[in-house]
Amino acid sequence: MEFEKRILCIGAGYVGGPTMAVIADKCPQYRVELVDINEERIRRWNSEDLPIYEPGLDEIVRRARGRNLFFTTEVATAIEHSDIIFVSVNTPTKAFGQGAGQAADLQYWEKTAYQILKHSHSDKIVVEKSTLPVRTAEAMQRILHSRGTSPRFDVLSNPEFLAEGTAVENLLQPDRVLVGCMNTESGHKACDQLEAIYANWVDRSRIIRTNIWSAELSKLVANAFLAQRISAINSISALCEKTEADVDEVAHSIGLDSRIGKKFLKAGIGFGGSCFKKDILNLVYICRQHGLDEVADFWERVVEINEYQQSRFVANMISEMFNTIAGKSILVLGFAFKADTGDTRESPAAQVCRRLLEEHAQLRLCDPKALENARKELIGVQGVSFHEDPYEAAENVHAVALLTDWQCYRELDYAKVFDRMEKPAFLFDGRNLLDHRRLFEIGFNVYPVGKSPLRQL
Ligand SMILES: NC(=O)c1ccc[n+]([C@@H]2O[C@H](COP(=O)([O-])OP(=O)(O)OC[C@H]3O[C@@H](n4cnc5c(N)ncnc54)[C@H](O)[C@@H]3O)[C@@H](O)[C@H]2O)c1
Repeated sequence: MEFEKRILCIGAGYVGGPTMAVIADKCPQYRVELVDINEERIRRWNSEDLPIYEPGLDEIVRRARGRNLFFTTEVATAIEHSDIIFVSVNTPTKAFGQGAGQAADLQYWEKTAYQILKHSHSDKIVVEKSTLPVRTAEAMQRILHSRGTSPRFDVLSNPEFLAEGTAVENLLQPDRVLVGCMNTESGHKACDQLEAIYANWVDRSRIIRTNIWSAELSKLVANAFLAQRISAINSISALCEKTEADVDEVAHSIGLDSRIGKKFLKAGIGFGGSCFKKDILNLVYICRQHGLDEVADFWERVVEINEYQQSRFVANMISEMFNTIAGKSILVLGFAFKADTGDTRESPAAQVCRRLLEEHAQLRLCDPKALENARKELIGVQGVSFHEDPYEAAENVHAVALLTDWQCYRELDYAKVFDRMEKPAFLFDGRNLLDHRRLFEIGFNVYPVGKSPLRQL
């Protein structure tokens, strides 16, 4: 079959994989290919055991794979045969040299730019899907045109706003699709082509076009604003614990104000995932580069409050468990950075676990989807065991720490858990997920976030 367009995505990760699967599913007239240097990842994309878990993704991949969706490690041929190339490689925080700990590490992105240049023999549209520092497209254009103006490359910015755990839903019904282009005739023509892809299933009114720098910056700012809301309510949770106010009641009351809105006002052990922290730190770094120290300080505090929330949670556990947890067993419910994903990158649960291990606690770790990643992350670490069955893991533990908001943990039989535990039994709900009154009636000492604890006499 002759395809209308040949789309390639470089980087078959949490963003590239679901995004391209949805494009292929919605647009059978296009050939969509994903390429990655990670052979194991590609092998799994081509198997029944996909490398990432997202609700609804399996069915979409199964429908489109082999029809118009393909996964490969052959970078050179994939580039050569494509018209539109999405770049969705990782852009982690730089761990070395200048800007270490804050700036984005652009080595994967830059290698990709040179690969595109090397293997292109016809004009291409190159789409920044990765989250990148503002003005990266300028560098991309310069690399791609470093050998002259033929072939011609048009660089667009099309940041991805999906959230892990709801990626498929977000891609199918996005709040908006943002496309930024250079203000040139060919820039706008390239934009028309990209918009035409999304218009196969997204209403045109939700596809917005901006200048390329606004598009790049908007992604960093969106993540900074979302994370800021979580840190804002978490900072208030600390005050609630001192004043007998209830943070869920405060969040509900303020969230009904339409100027504030109710989303992202859930207090807990803080935000995680591969993006929020790295993108805020990147924003902080860019502000400092421009001499805007006050602005940088403002955003940096969002990350600091997040870390403070995890320290507070652990400090509370220690003080409530008679100032020592050394040698005590703790059942940890959840290790993923949030529900409905197996991703453990920058998980607040992982941070809490590390601090508990520093106190020489023994951890029994459960998670419905993240045990594989947890095992990798904690390889060689003493004092942790991994369990599929939370009831079996509860045997003789001194405390339960709920760290990820999985629905299945709301539905556990806590009377059964309680029966198996040492007494007094402590339960620390790091996500305010559970029915605290009911747990107290079972016999637990219950510690929510931002609410008065329920202690047995
Ligand atoms: N994860 C999210 O929720 C999310 C949401 C929106 C935006 N983003 C952004 O999207 C980008 C990708 O994030 P991710 O979570 O998918 O990362 P990821 O690490 O899951 O995937 C990136 C993939 O790129 C591959 N890769 C790196 N260099 C390559 C090269 N030269 N050729 C081929 N493949 C290469 C890696 O092997 C990896 O599989 C990042 O910039 C991130 O900030 C992520």
